[in-house]
Amino acid sequence: MGPTILHNTSTIIEGNHPILQLTSGTITLLGRKGGLAEAHFNLNKEGSFCAQYNISHSKSELYTILDGKVEIEYDNQRWALKVGETIDASIYNKLITFYAITDAKVLLNMDACFYERNFFEMQSLQEEMEAVARVDGYTYHHCDRIRKYAIEVWKKFNQPSENLKLLRWGAYLHDIGKLAIPLEILNKPGKLTPEEWTIMKTHSIKGADILRAHKIEWLEDVAFIIEQHHERYDGKGYPFGLKGDEISIEAAIVSVVDAYDAMTTERVYKEAMSPEEAIYELKKGKGTQFHPAAVDNFIKCLQENKFD
Ligand SMILES: [Fe+2]
Repeated sequence: MGPTILHNTSTIIEGNHPILQLTSGTITLLGRKGGLAEAHFNLNKEGSFCAQYNISHSKSELYTILDGKVEIEYDNQRWALKVGETIDASIYNKLITFYAITDAKVLLNMDACFYERNFFEMQSLQEEMEAVARVDGYTYHHCDRIRKYAIEVWKKFNQPSENLKLLRWGAYLHDIGKLAIPLEILNKPGKLTPEEWTIMKTHSIKGADILRAHKIEWLEDVAFIIEQHHERYDGKGYPFGLKGDEISIEAAIVSVVDAYDAMTTERVYKEAMSPEEAIYELKKGKGTQFHPAAVDNFIKCLQENKFD
């Protein structure tokens, strides 16, 4: 029996199947087979994704390589997978990362209810972030890159990987509060007046409020990251002037990777800095603007070419 076609609640579909377009590739939700969702992840060369098994989410979590060269990283070890090989995530208790060395196709199988809910939540959050991109001028690639950077830095901290989901979404949605900032301030070509700057700075609190009232309930657990992403290690940030370890490590990571991405991205009003210049700026801000270990770990990831 072939997979059942899902009732489609999404706006993004290809043929009869809902799709999710990510920087790393495209996921097509094919349907259900024996209680498991089936999806194809068409990964772009150099695309990557993470898996963290959680029995309370899904009993089964399987990844089968259908095509292309894929490597897996687990517990600081990395090895190649063969076409046809299946990784059963339930036997791994830490985070697994898959890296596509060439364009590749991976079959995903997970408990249908969990996976479908996740898939459609991601679709709707992506649509919200596209709304932010429209008002802010950044593409969603900015948010997706930050999410990717943040995950790699997190792995260096050896933090419990259950919290990774919060960081991923905190990184992705960090500027969602910009939706609540008037456009004439957000897109003002010149310098902001002190009054306008005061309004601009409310985007971190407004973003946290959006998540606390969000229809996707677990997002309220992500709100603290959004709220703290402009705090500074020396206590001179906003909104609360938190200092050092009063700032969550999640927010400290987002702050570093956001600054790096902003520096190395070209905007209408500024040229892009080279990675070397941006690293120099991060080092300069170590211990004042930025959490020192977050800077060190991010630079380590850059030196290991984690993002190439
Ligand atoms: Fe921000």
